[in-house]
Amino acid sequence: MVDDEKNMKMKRYIKALYRLLKSLATEPLLFIKVLNTVPSTLSAYVFSRNYTDTFQKTDTFQEVDTSVTSSANPLWEYFQNHKEGHGIWKWEHYFDIYNRHFARFVGQKVNVLEIGVYSGGSLEMWRSYFGKDSHIYGVDIETACKAYENDRVSIFIGDQADRAFWKTFKESVEGIDILIDDGGHKPEQQQITLEEMLPSLKPGGVYLCEDVTRCFNRFSAFASGLVNELNHFNPKAGSLLQSGILPFQSSIYSIHFYPFVVVIEKHRVSPTKLSAPKHGTEWQPFL
Ligand SMILES: C[S@@+](CC[C@H](N)C(=O)[O-])C[C@H]1O[C@@H](n2cnc3c(N)ncnc32)[C@H](O)[C@@H]1O
Repeated sequence: MVDDEKNMKMKRYIKALYRLLKSLATEPLLFIKVLNTVPSTLSAYVFSRNYTDTFQKTDTFQEVDTSVTSSANPLWEYFQNHKEGHGIWKWEHYFDIYNRHFARFVGQKVNVLEIGVYSGGSLEMWRSYFGKDSHIYGVDIETACKAYENDRVSIFIGDQADRAFWKTFKESVEGIDILIDDGGHKPEQQQITLEEMLPSLKPGGVYLCEDVTRCFNRFSAFASGLVNELNHFNPKAGSLLQSGILPFQSSIYSIHFYPFVVVIEKHRVSPTKLSAPKHGTEWQPFL
């Protein structure tokens, strides 16, 4: 048993080393740029580890015993009242996140895909929340999950880490607005799913990946890496007041991190530039 654990650890280290060397060999210049950000990542981790909020020491600081504070959240109410029937298994604090990013789709003609069907209850919850014009798609690796299919819920059986599966899925289904990844939760599965599905989400769509847990999670690092292109400053004709838009920036509106959850929102209408015009007539001389 002890030897088995040692072997597993050794395998993990070798895999990590292989990944590092492969990145160095394929993208040497980018590799050095990323390496240059390592001290900042480390400082951020140390800062957050030792973090003390000024307000946490005062009387104005409020704590609640669950992470869900809003009673006006229909999803939370549904979950609270769901005491029997097909099972739903969610972290409590996800419900505020769902409602924050999904509320604008309620009552609309919306296509929702959840990866990870398990006992079928969450698919029923989405249908009840989004309403009669919604269509819910479920993906699971277990064939038993096909049992939850009906005229408003379509189930696809496959492995979310299999790019060929997503190719077939995209050929059969068009126009997903919301994707919720609650499948296998392994970073490689989450990354492949995002690479295959984010570009195909409809404009204005929302991509939500659950259970991104533990420090230095590789999917979390992948999602943080996306921010670089979002922040890419591409001065137009030498002007510091305008940045040309790159394809990623014209598609992706925002990237959000919550405990265990990453949310990516797409632009409804793509911007053609980012501008920083100066308004006013009186300026300090120093800039
Ligand atoms: C946490 S459960 C989903 C819970 C469900 N969404 C809910 O809210 O009640 C995870 C599901 O992901 C499925 N799963 C695991 N690995 C998968 C993979 N590689 N591809 C697709 N589904 C997978 C499992 O079979 C399981 O049904």
